[in-house]
Amino acid sequence: MSSGIKACVFDAYGTLFDVHSAVARHAAAIGPGAEAMSRSWRLKQLEYTWIRSLMHRHADFWAVTGEALDFAMASAGLADPALRERLMDAYLMLDAYPEVPSVLDRLKAAGIRSAILSNGSPRMLDAAVRSARLEDRLEAVFSIEEVGIYKPDPRVYRLAVDRLGLSPAEISFQSSNVWDAAGAAAFGFHVVWINRSRQPPEYGWVLRAREIASLDALPEIVAPA
Ligand code: LAC
Repeated sequence: MSSGIKACVFDAYGTLFDVHSAVARHAAAIGPGAEAMSRSWRLKQLEYTWIRSLMHRHADFWAVTGEALDFAMASAGLADPALRERLMDAYLMLDAYPEVPSVLDRLKAAGIRSAILSNGSPRMLDAAVRSARLEDRLEAVFSIEEVGIYKPDPRVYRLAVDRLGLSPAEISFQSSNVWDAAGAAAFGFHVVWINRSRQPPEYGWVLRAREIASLDALPEIVAPA
């Protein structure tokens, strides 16, 4: 039985890589507010991407990530340039979620192509992919820097279609960021929402997606035996 899916395209941050692993590594230096600071860092990072895209004032994801960290550290009352540098460095070596390597291997064995499509800058994505030893498991890594605007602009999702040479209906897009899953669904991809933190549903006006709690169940969905 075939699903008609020829490629799986993955969001990077939050989907393959645990964005909170950067702060977790330095939690002792940050103190009891570490988890809240990590959430604030991530929320501001995303907010800044949307605001920059709407203003047509693009800066790459490394710059945006640094601006968001400055806000998060200031909110937590932390003024520590060395810690800032350590946290930014940690963002280049985020932990991959434990199931990621084996899921990519299973997809490859089933003849499904795999790629990343992310807001991350090429340098950030290259570092994260290498540090998690995923480089041989991915056919391609596409950065929004090629189009100069952030998700969920449809031009971003178009990039994967163009570069993979497939139709949207032949691509399954995976994201744990529900607004990104919604953008991909609006574009026309099959979408699998990786609802890792068991969030209530959103974007019902556009999001038609399979929902799973981790990537483990993905190979059976796109390449049923
Ligand atoms: C990305 C952001 C959305 O990887 O996490 O594109």
